[in-house]
Amino acid sequence: MKEQLNSLRAKGISELNALNNADQLPEWYHRYLGRKGELTSLLKQLGTLSAEERPVMGKVINEFKQELQVSFEQRQQTLRENKLNQELEIDDLDVTLPGRPCTTGHLHLTTQTLRRIYQIFQEMGFQVYEAPEVETDEYNFQLLNIPEYHPARDMWDTFWVDDEVVLRTHTSPGQIWAMREYAPEPIRVILPGKCYRYEQITPRSEHQFYQVEGLTIGKNIRLTDLIGVMSEFAHKMYGAERKVRIRGSYFPFTEPSIEIDMSCSCEENGCRLCKYTGWLEVAGAGMVHPVVLRNGGYDPDEWSGFAFGMGVERPALLKHSINDIRYFYGNDLRFLQQF
Ligand code: DAH
Repeated sequence: MKEQLNSLRAKGISELNALNNADQLPEWYHRYLGRKGELTSLLKQLGTLSAEERPVMGKVINEFKQELQVSFEQRQQTLRENKLNQELEIDDLDVTLPGRPCTTGHLHLTTQTLRRIYQIFQEMGFQVYEAPEVETDEYNFQLLNIPEYHPARDMWDTFWVDDEVVLRTHTSPGQIWAMREYAPEPIRVILPGKCYRYEQITPRSEHQFYQVEGLTIGKNIRLTDLIGVMSEFAHKMYGAERKVRIRGSYFPFTEPSIEIDMSCSCEENGCRLCKYTGWLEVAGAGMVHPVVLRNGGYDPDEWSGFAFGMGVERPALLKHSINDIRYFYGNDLRFLQQF
C-alpha cells in the first residue's frame, strides 16, 4: 500500500505540474481528490488491513491528502497569475498609469429651477404633490369643466394614447387627484411635473415641458390670497424690485380667471425678452371653479380655493437669457455644463 501511495504521489504531482491551463484543474482535482478519485479508493482499501496497521496507514493517507490539497492550491494560484500576466502582456495595459479623472455631474437646469420653486412655496407652507403623467380624458379635461367638444379643448393640442387616455397636457388634473385624496380637509399643495403637447417644435415651444401647478382649498380663500402668494413668489424668484400686474383671462377650471405678469428686468424700457412690452407672463391662475370643487369632493358653498399653473423652462430661459428652449432636451453638455 505504501508503494501504491508513493507512485500515486509521484504521478499526481507530476501531472499537476504539467497542467498549463487553469481550465484543466477541476479534472485533475476530480481524479485525485474527488469523491470517486484515487485517494478515496485507497482509503477504501484500509478495510483490508490489520487492526494495528489501519490507524497508521489512515494517518499517512490523510497527510498525503493534505499534501495534494496544498499542491493543488499552489498550482491554481500559479496558473491564475500566469494567465493574468499573459493578459496584461497582450492588452498592453500599463497598470502604473494614473486613472482618468472622474467628472462629477450636476443637476439639470430644469431640476435646479424646480427645486428653487419648491423652496419658495415650501416657505409659504405648500407641500409637493405628484400626480400621473399619463391621464384619462376624464381627469385631463372633463373633471376640469372641459366636456367633450368644448371649444376650450383647442387650448391644448393633445397626444392621444387611445380614445380615452392622453399624455397630460397640463398639471391641472393633479388638482382633482389632490382634492379627492384630501377632501374634506384644507389643501395647500404644488404639483410639479412633465406635460406633453402635440406641437411643432420651435425655439419657443417643445412638445415636452415642465409645469408647476398650485392649489389651495380652504374656508374664505379669496382672490387677494392668490395675488399675495404670486407676488411673494415673483419677488423671491426674480427679485424684490419686480412689479406684479393682473390681467383678466379665461380658463374653464377657474372663475374668475386671471393672468399674472411681472415687470421685465429692462424696467419697462423695452427689450427683446419682453418683446418691448415691459412685462413678462408668470402664470395663469384663478379661483377654483365651483364645478371643479364639486368634482374634487368639496361643497362650493362652504369651500373656496385658488389655483395657478406656470411653466418651468421659460422662467429659466428668461433668467439665463437662453434663446432656444430646445437646448433643455438636447443633452448637449456644452450647454448643460454652463449651469
Ligand atoms: N393649465 C393651464 C395651462 O396649462 C394653466 C393654468 C391656468 C393652471 C389657470 C391653473 C389655472 O391652475 O388656474 O395652460
